[in-house]
Amino acid sequence: KDSNAAKPTAAQPVLPDAQTVTAVKHWTDSLFSFRVTRPQTLRFRSGEFVMIGLMGDPDPKTGRQKPLLRAYSIASPSWDDELEFYSIKVQDGPLTSKLQHIQPGEQIILRPKPVGTLVLDALLPGKRLWMLATGTGIAPFASLMRDPETYESYDEIIMMHTCRDAAELDYGRELIEGLREDELMKELLGEGALDKLRYYPTTTREETANMGRITDNLSSGKVFEDLGLPKMDPEHDRAMVCGSLAFNKDIMAILDGFGLKEGANSDPAQYVVEKAFVG
Ligand code: A2P
Repeated sequence: KDSNAAKPTAAQPVLPDAQTVTAVKHWTDSLFSFRVTRPQTLRFRSGEFVMIGLMGDPDPKTGRQKPLLRAYSIASPSWDDELEFYSIKVQDGPLTSKLQHIQPGEQIILRPKPVGTLVLDALLPGKRLWMLATGTGIAPFASLMRDPETYESYDEIIMMHTCRDAAELDYGRELIEGLREDELMKELLGEGALDKLRYYPTTTREETANMGRITDNLSSGKVFEDLGLPKMDPEHDRAMVCGSLAFNKDIMAILDGFGLKEGANSDPAQYVVEKAFVG
């Protein structure tokens, strides 16, 4: 009797927590967005992130593959049937060098455990919500800007987004312009909701009509002047921050200077920062 025949053969590697890509859009040489199917059981709060990725290369010795995962903010709102993500492409990046080539019909790994600090619940009630993002840090706000609760919670929502070049603003710009033209969206977000949304995009390298770092435009008072708003104060203003580490550090000092205090899910206050994000 052949004893080997009874042994189970090594299972084919199956993608754990697989979801299927439904759409991909490339915005620039270094930016793309994509949509995937949503696990039926996945509930999340707009602004949260999940771990997503692909199987890594087989280990040369063992032949085993391990998932290669990174934190990605969910860019779609919590009511959407699908999940959307917005990503940089790093040519020698372990994950994004591969992820940038995904095509509709292919699968990614998505761990269905949403977490994060950029949620409305982590802020005390206020009048104005400032959403402050650099680069792909706009992703969680792409979710929050499509959530009716954002507009129910605030009288005004200011989306400040800064990138080096104008083309890098396109994802956010098209999203916001799209909202304003979409009758279904207007209905979903509620009467007059989108009138509360102020969009303040700037570039820092390419010459455009509206320039400057978010930090500089806040500390100089330019943005308040341009939008006809009072200087930020801890009674009325709330902020959510998502960008590079250097940006987070500098903007926190500025918000602290306005008298706002950092909050968390367990301790709501005047502003929150997404620290898991690496732009
Ligand atoms: P700048 O061009 O002046 O460096 P990056 O591509 O390096 O992540 O930057 C994205 C955007 O964030 C750029 O417009 C960049 O401006 C800006 N930025 C980078 N670091 C900071 C910082 N410490 N404070 C404010 N803005 C920043």
